[in-house]
Amino acid sequence: MCGIVGILGQHEVAPMLVEALKRLEYRGYDSAGIATVNEGVLGRRRAIGKLVNLSDLLVHEPLAGKSGIGHTRWATHGAPTLVNTHPHRAGAVAVVHNGIIENYRDLRAELAEVGIAYQTETDTETVALLAQHHLESGMSPIEAARATLAKLEGAYALAFLFDGEPDLMIAARKGSPLAIGHGEGEVYVGSDAIALAPMTDRITYLEEGDCAILSRSEVTIIDADGQTVQREARTIRIDAARIDKAGHKHFMSKEIAEQPTVISETLASYIAPDASDIILPGDGIDFASINRITMASCGTAYYACLTAKYWFEQLAGLPVEVDFASEFRYRTPPVTEGTAALFVSQSGETADTLAALRYCAPLAQTILAVTNVPESSIARESDLNMPIHAGVEIGVASTKAFTCQLTVLLLLALKAAHARGRLTDEGFKAKLASLRSLPATFNQAMSIEETVRGVALRISQSRDVLFLGRGRMFPLALEGALKLKEISYIHAEAYASGELKHGPIALVDEQMPVVVIAPRDALFDKTVSNMQEVMARGGKVILITDAAGAKTASDGVWQTIIMPDIDDDLAPILYAIPVQFLAYHAAVAKGTDVDQPRNLAKSVTVE
Ligand code: F6R
Repeated sequence: MCGIVGILGQHEVAPMLVEALKRLEYRGYDSAGIATVNEGVLGRRRAIGKLVNLSDLLVHEPLAGKSGIGHTRWATHGAPTLVNTHPHRAGAVAVVHNGIIENYRDLRAELAEVGIAYQTETDTETVALLAQHHLESGMSPIEAARATLAKLEGAYALAFLFDGEPDLMIAARKGSPLAIGHGEGEVYVGSDAIALAPMTDRITYLEEGDCAILSRSEVTIIDADGQTVQREARTIRIDAARIDKAGHKHFMSKEIAEQPTVISETLASYIAPDASDIILPGDGIDFASINRITMASCGTAYYACLTAKYWFEQLAGLPVEVDFASEFRYRTPPVTEGTAALFVSQSGETADTLAALRYCAPLAQTILAVTNVPESSIARESDLNMPIHAGVEIGVASTKAFTCQLTVLLLLALKAAHARGRLTDEGFKAKLASLRSLPATFNQAMSIEETVRGVALRISQSRDVLFLGRGRMFPLALEGALKLKEISYIHAEAYASGELKHGPIALVDEQMPVVVIAPRDALFDKTVSNMQEVMARGGKVILITDAAGAKTASDGVWQTIIMPDIDDDLAPILYAIPVQFLAYHAAVAKGTDVDQPRNLAKSVTVE
């Protein structure tokens, strides 16, 4: 969380910094700021709230300079006030930071002993104070930055700029990602390559513990052991243009609408042209030698894993454990022989998921990743990365990445089922054929938007909403509740339908909308019984089902949303559409900030 950028340029950098920050706003939008060196003098501008406030400020108070750093903040230490806004400055040093300096209290105490006081509530200010202290003791800027880095514990991506040094920037990474971009007589740093895409596609990723000393003509990288190292510069394919709303009011609505297209791209990248097999990257996976899968992820990606558990267990007969990455990483779970560890992450940078991966790396038979960013840390640190091909997702609430994650996970489960002899050749091909028709069915299902909008308008006034699902629809109920909470701020909870009577049914009254996700599958009648229990207590049921389900179970239901018919295995992917639309239109009706909901950030690089 937090996005950082730095530029040693040939032109005025303030507009370039703001453009790059715009691309990083998904990482946080509590406040934003830039610092430049102009004619040798360090200056800065900062504004609280969205980046647009900083842009407005720069119109009235421009900031000249051909070198600069910038930051968009997701507050960790200290409220989103101006004083806490980056860049932080102490004397001749300005610093931007993504991550958490865990020993900042100790460092503050050390600085206090030599009479240095802090002004902000942030951990980052300590970095600037420490570097300035080293400068005052006679060190050069490079020595001061390196001596400062040596004292830091925790996670960081940092960029330093110095008064009187227009051709010097120092960047460092530990635990938070950082990319260096190479231009014509210019050099850039950014939290990701997307931020740098308008300026360059030549990217070097820093590795853990790296410190880069940058000038316009030279990049020197020093690794964690203090050795000068060469890191490969790669040409990255990022479509810089794909960051507009394409006529939609919000990125989220555009991303929901894109799903038929991106899912078809996902399928095309894995299913052989003759539809006879699923082709995995590299050497693939020897599913016959695996006896268990462990998954750990966060948020929506965790719900994708939970869905996959049903697929892997039921289709491939493989036992699966799924845990929140934040719990998994500190539980020291035993990883037994024959375990494949699988990590799902849109950003590929989620701190807890990455830590869980690193825990498993020396223990598991193989490390698998399902990510949307092939250059991300999680992708790079896995044995086999399966890209989801969702394209850049800007809306903080994940939509198309979720359905593309599910698509890749189902492909994997089918591959495993076939490899382990649980699916015949014919059965396997039949599943691939129904998967190939998924984008068309998705297109068809998009027509439910108006119906769902009507329902969303009604529930937008509710204080609480319950979501129920059974079997593979249970994780989707969890995802539906999460989507509604995060963008409409309506309190929502999800339960496995059968659990309701063990407590939560006490919540049901005439005011309570209850969303029941129930295609007419083998568990339909069971779920309908639970739905009846809700209706018997006055609960207002919104039933999401197919035509056959609606025919048998619509009586007494408050609202019915009818989905196209679909193969049972594919239903958790298709039924994401109504829960996404429900959250989206409830949020629009409430007038919340759909793409940048309060308190959230898209890439969670702190634990
Ligand atoms: C919710 C959402 C989050 C993310 C979670 C993990 O809409 O997007 O819950 O799923 O923060 O992020 P990634 O997938 O980047 O690891």
